[in-house]
Amino acid sequence: SAAEKGGHDYFMLKEIEEQPEALENTLRGHFVNGGIVLDEQRMTEQDLRDIDKVFVVACGTAYHSGLLAKYAIEHWCRIPVEVELASEFRYRDPVLGRDTLVVAISQSGETADTLEAVRHARTQRARVLAICNTNGAQIPRESDAVLYTHAGPEIGVAATKTFLAQITANYLVGLALAQARGTKYSDEVAREFEELAAMPQAVRQTLSTVEQVRTLGRELADSKAVLFLGRHVGYPVALEGALKLKELAYMHAEGFAAGELKHGPIALIEDRLPVVVVMPSAKGRALLHSKMLSNIREIQARGARTVVIAEEGDEAVRPFADELIEIPAVATLLQPLVSTVPLQVLAAEIARARGYDVDKPRNLAKSVTVE
Ligand code: AGP
Repeated sequence: SAAEKGGHDYFMLKEIEEQPEALENTLRGHFVNGGIVLDEQRMTEQDLRDIDKVFVVACGTAYHSGLLAKYAIEHWCRIPVEVELASEFRYRDPVLGRDTLVVAISQSGETADTLEAVRHARTQRARVLAICNTNGAQIPRESDAVLYTHAGPEIGVAATKTFLAQITANYLVGLALAQARGTKYSDEVAREFEELAAMPQAVRQTLSTVEQVRTLGRELADSKAVLFLGRHVGYPVALEGALKLKELAYMHAEGFAAGELKHGPIALIEDRLPVVVVMPSAKGRALLHSKMLSNIREIQARGARTVVIAEEGDEAVRPFADELIEIPAVATLLQPLVSTVPLQVLAAEIARARGYDVDKPRNLAKSVTVE
């Protein structure tokens, strides 16, 4: 009923709007006495300190959150991080050992490929840390440490609030590792945590774009395809935006690293093709911002209809944006927590305008327990 959906036409919109609260719940209780704490910890501090290699394994949206973990963990901890689809990792022969940490990210905690990736890792004595939204699920049960996302149950098949919660949890794991290794001291961890703690409010602010994006979604509903471009942490966001559109609107959608345009994808640009661009911050990432401006200029010259997600006050991008969606200014690594929100709404609204059931897209299950 509409009441269950909080007055919305579909659960997904309710869950999109619950994101600020979900993030508060993910963060709660994980910073105590100047340190990051996990929910379950069956590894010693020394084990954590000795980690010299990280693999992140996951599927779908959880994998996209994992791509972001690499940016944060390598930056904060100076440990090499590889991010891999669980369905690839489990059939490979990755180089693992006691000092390897495998971070398995799964909303349900029951995804068959991710579970098998965990088992594969454990047979080679790697440590496993699970990031999961479901208490007591199989993946956390088979792991050495667990961080629950506490985002609450997610009804929509398309992951929304659990994606933002996974990103947040990944960053908490990064900070825990940084602290254990001594690459970040308590006061720096406290500062990073404070920035994370400010994100629920930033996401709340971003929700003010919902009506603008819904209107845009209705306008784009007849498009043949939509492309998404991002750079740095905006790249996984582009991949996630495209996945949401595929699974909900059954529309051809691709996410690209903007630097790859000239290596192929630019050939796809044709008159009126919608291209969603996630802009890096002009202040925080001036070089990437200017690179992205030239990318937009190029695609616009070839007729693309540009939908630009940019930080408030980004005047330079205005002339190149056929539609401008403004998000609050936040730290670079945290931008995905706000830039993803309009992409979720866009996919849901395009799907609805095309007459599809947003909460139950065809051919998909909420948790993929069979391969
Ligand atoms: C997300 O919108 C998808 N429905 C799907 O990609 C999902 O993220 C994937 O199946 C992984 O699920 P999990 O997090 O429960 O392991």
